[in-house]
Amino acid sequence: KLQKHFSIAIIPGDGIGPEVVNEGLKVLKVLEEVHSDVRFVYDFYDWNCEYYLKHGRMMPTNGLNLLEDYDTILFGAVGAPTVPDHVSVWELILPIRRHFQQYVNLRPVKLLKGLESPLRYKSHDDLDFVVIRENTEGEYSNIGGRLHEGTPYETAIQNNVFTRYGSERILKYAYSVAESRPKKRLTVATKSNAINHTMPFWDEIVKEIGNEHPQIDVQLYHIDALAAYFISKPESFDVVAGSNLFGDILTDLGAAIVGGLGLAPSGNINPERKYPSMFEPIHGSAPDIAGKGIANPIAQIWSISLMMDHLRLPELGKLVLSAIEEVLFDGTVRTPDLGGTANTMEMGDAIVSKIREMS
Ligand code: NAI
Ligand code: MG
Repeated sequence: KLQKHFSIAIIPGDGIGPEVVNEGLKVLKVLEEVHSDVRFVYDFYDWNCEYYLKHGRMMPTNGLNLLEDYDTILFGAVGAPTVPDHVSVWELILPIRRHFQQYVNLRPVKLLKGLESPLRYKSHDDLDFVVIRENTEGEYSNIGGRLHEGTPYETAIQNNVFTRYGSERILKYAYSVAESRPKKRLTVATKSNAINHTMPFWDEIVKEIGNEHPQIDVQLYHIDALAAYFISKPESFDVVAGSNLFGDILTDLGAAIVGGLGLAPSGNINPERKYPSMFEPIHGSAPDIAGKGIANPIAQIWSISLMMDHLRLPELGKLVLSAIEEVLFDGTVRTPDLGGTANTMEMGDAIVSKIREMS
């Protein structure tokens, strides 16, 4: 039988990034072992804050070209106290997301079997939705500046950028994901009562595209109320879409209601597959626990499950996620953020053994 080769660019980054990426690598290896006609070939890129201190940039000038031909990218996390966050994030992750048109940021909010939500009275079926965040424009746009710096008149302006093109493509994607799920429900974050230029425009596009999807039950909620509903009635959600800022906030909140940042994965997806998509945990480099070997690798490993789905290897995606759930259900191996005493490697090894056992 012919082997399928997939090329992966690996960017471990800073802090706990390399620690959790290591566990992800073990998972890629065991997937090759249990699925003999799949091969992953990968290269490492040491682009992080240390690289910045040496070279004055987060990645080489041809960095994006180097990544372009990979099937996919696995990312850890960046950020270190030695480099301002607006440099490390703006010069590494944001260029990758933008240049490769990874305009969909897909983030599952799913309570895994074996875990109790901080919202304990909710069941596993109640906490199972996806958040789709716009990933290239909106509130995170480099448009604005400072005037009269260093004077009492000092002024800072940062503009929101909502293009028809950018809004249509993310909302079309959100509707199509809603179409693919049995509940056929889409909730869209807005704030058109207060942000009175860009948000009404966004709402109009939600309704326009909705006309092409009469079978989808679509709701527009103001972001503040929506955040409250994540806690009070999470079971009412199936697919939730939001602009860059709103989606960012909702997904950290989503992570919190299913057990914390150590669990939450994400995909930065180019749906047209013209460019590689990138998979990473939602969390950052966690300088407070970096080097202690206690970071939870589940967010990184779950992001490999999303990567497998994207590479059209859904049986491997499912296998990885079920193995994570089984290990949590057993309950004996847990990192400190989940109330256990296991370290990063033990957690990763337990998932790897479970994958082997289940296949
Ligand atoms: P963070 O996500 O790194 O940490 C927040 C809290 O969650 C910390 O208490 C940390 O210990 C805990 N935590 C995070 N991941 C964990 C894991 N896998 N296991 C156990 N506990 C975990 O966010 P923070 O502290 O705001 O940012 C730290 C650095 O990371 C900054 O430089 C920031 O810019 C960067 N960052 C990078 C991101 C990326 O690479 N995509 C995303 C978010 C932040
Ligand atoms: Mg965030």
